Amino acid sequence: MSEFKRYMITSALPYANGPVHIGHLAGVYIPSDIYTRYLRLRGRDVLWVCGSDEHGVPITLKAKKENTSPQAVVDRYHEIIKKSFEELGISFDIYSRTSSALHHETASEMFRTIYDKQGFIENTTEQFYDAEANQFLADRYITGTCPHCGNEKAYGDQCEKCGTSLNATDLIQPRSSVTGNVPQLKATKHWFLPLDKHEPFLRQWILEDHKEWKPNVYGQCKSWIDKGLQARAVSRDLDWGVKLPIENTEGKVLYVWFDAPVGYISATKELTPDWEKYWKDKDTKLVHFIGKDNIVFHCIIFPAMLKAEGSYIMPENVPANEFLNLEGDKISTSRNWAVWLHEYLLDFDGKQDVLRYVLTANAPETKDNDFTWKDFQARNNNELVAVLGNFVNRTLVLTNKYYDGLIPEATLTEADEAILSQITTIKESVEKSIENYRFREALKEAMSLARLGNKYLADTEPWKLVKTDPERVKAILYVSLEITAALPVLLEPFLPFTANKMRTFLRMDKVNWDELGTKNLLTVGHQIEKPKLLFDKIEDKQIEAQVNKLLATKKANEAENHKDEAQKENISFEDFQGMDIRIGTIVEAEKVPKTKKLLKLKVDTGLDERTVVSGIAEFYKPEDIIGKQVSILMNLAPRKIKGIESQGMILMAENIDGELAFVAPDKHLKSGSMIK
Ligand code: MF3
Ligand code: ZN
Repeated sequence: MSEFKRYMITSALPYANGPVHIGHLAGVYIPSDIYTRYLRLRGRDVLWVCGSDEHGVPITLKAKKENTSPQAVVDRYHEIIKKSFEELGISFDIYSRTSSALHHETASEMFRTIYDKQGFIENTTEQFYDAEANQFLADRYITGTCPHCGNEKAYGDQCEKCGTSLNATDLIQPRSSVTGNVPQLKATKHWFLPLDKHEPFLRQWILEDHKEWKPNVYGQCKSWIDKGLQARAVSRDLDWGVKLPIENTEGKVLYVWFDAPVGYISATKELTPDWEKYWKDKDTKLVHFIGKDNIVFHCIIFPAMLKAEGSYIMPENVPANEFLNLEGDKISTSRNWAVWLHEYLLDFDGKQDVLRYVLTANAPETKDNDFTWKDFQARNNNELVAVLGNFVNRTLVLTNKYYDGLIPEATLTEADEAILSQITTIKESVEKSIENYRFREALKEAMSLARLGNKYLADTEPWKLVKTDPERVKAILYVSLEITAALPVLLEPFLPFTANKMRTFLRMDKVNWDELGTKNLLTVGHQIEKPKLLFDKIEDKQIEAQVNKLLATKKANEAENHKDEAQKENISFEDFQGMDIRIGTIVEAEKVPKTKKLLKLKVDTGLDERTVVSGIAEFYKPEDIIGKQVSILMNLAPRKIKGIESQGMILMAENIDGELAFVAPDKHLKSGSMIK
């Protein structure tokens, strides 16, 4: 392993303006949990910190919308997030928060040190100001059209559609998010971190010394540096955040992206008085786990801050994942298009490891990936149940059946030894993958041991052999039991709940990673438990319920986004009178063969019985509409539809879902009654 004495692991602090969803988990928290659990299993000195990011405009906007205080918003979500992480087995050493006094102090100190070293540039610029709301419009307080992609809902700091980071003054047609007013420009003084000054350092440190970083991370850094770095404002005119720690700066706070990453340091301080050695000693390996939208902040801006401060180490790596989509669509908190962790934990009680498994097996490590409920079900049923669960269960059941649950004494063949030697081979490849942040590969390799065991049992068929060669069966089960005992070590980083269960079944203590493969894990004569199932099948109806929940969200969103059509141009009364519309009664109806939508109707119009072809077959069955009254446009020029001459048109009303309904009188009228 590496030459480092200790590890400092951080995971991006989630914004406390909403709960955590599967995108966060797959991108950041599950990978970092795997990595940290692995390091602990190897007995490394490791600290892992996280916490809620409680400042920033999205939080104040949410508070305003809900007519409450920012503190109330962050208090609520901090609790939800913290609890749901715990339940999923995300094993931070501390989950802190940036509204804490210690954090305010730490972030202020960071600013103050850089300030005292002349690390900032003071500059007065014109910023957008909302006179009615009496405030400056920082970041998301302003929206407008993105100059790059034309998105009309771009924010003052970023366009979420094309991902460009913006200055508020770049926006076309800017509007205040508070009042909707067109903002004015007003002069205000701010403090800027001169990234350009740090460019030579960043270029050397990232582009030369860290060519091993993931291509997506390296590539983004390179493109930023090559475009030329500029000074970035690190203060804001807002009243929610860490107060600027200098005289005469009433109403100014630190930019959220200045204070939030310092949250890693404050959390470590809160955790241990020894925090400095984890942040300042060259023998520490610092690793930031983040999502791809956080790359510049962690690779360029935060390192530039640390460099300007002067006493901190730089991260060794910044593994960022791509995005996870949900059923083909981008996950979105505001559109409620997400699988929320706290809801999953309620709907799938006790199935934490299934989610951990699926999100790792399908992690967006090198490209965006899609989560689907069907895949979730398939991976549970075909992999966890059919491979891992099945192997462990067969081994334990047979041991109980043949040997009363005692590990048998056995003579192994060379082939048996060869199987057991796979434990070491697999362990080494899992190790290598984890250390290179390739967790989906690592999980696949760990699972390959269960596959190997499953195949070994299927090939040797001890349940048949037991009648003819009981000595051989002892060896087969001995080998299977050793594999079963190795699995919880290999799987612990990925599936901690399952690993625990397996150890309980085997009445086994935790085994250190490095002991694996060096000795037998079980001793002859050791008593194991009566087995229980490790995993259950997930039934179709559970999956349907989740899919229906998403469909309901989709419908709700469509209804919200539906814009009523603008009114058409005026027409004259004569134009209207030119239309001959009457009440008709349907007397015959049948499907038009080989079409999905068409019905052929015969309609009594008072004048005659005429044929009309109508596109209503998805909404009405022919037998149900005989005798129904409808409105018919009589004098529409006849048209041939699928070879049938249609003499007129039935008027239909259509709702936003495209469903059609007859426009009919509210009491029975004589056929041929005029509509005027
Ligand atoms: N809250 C940010 C996000 O969700 C991440 C902050 S990471 C930190 O995108 F380093 F600033 F803490
Ligand atoms: Zn854009």
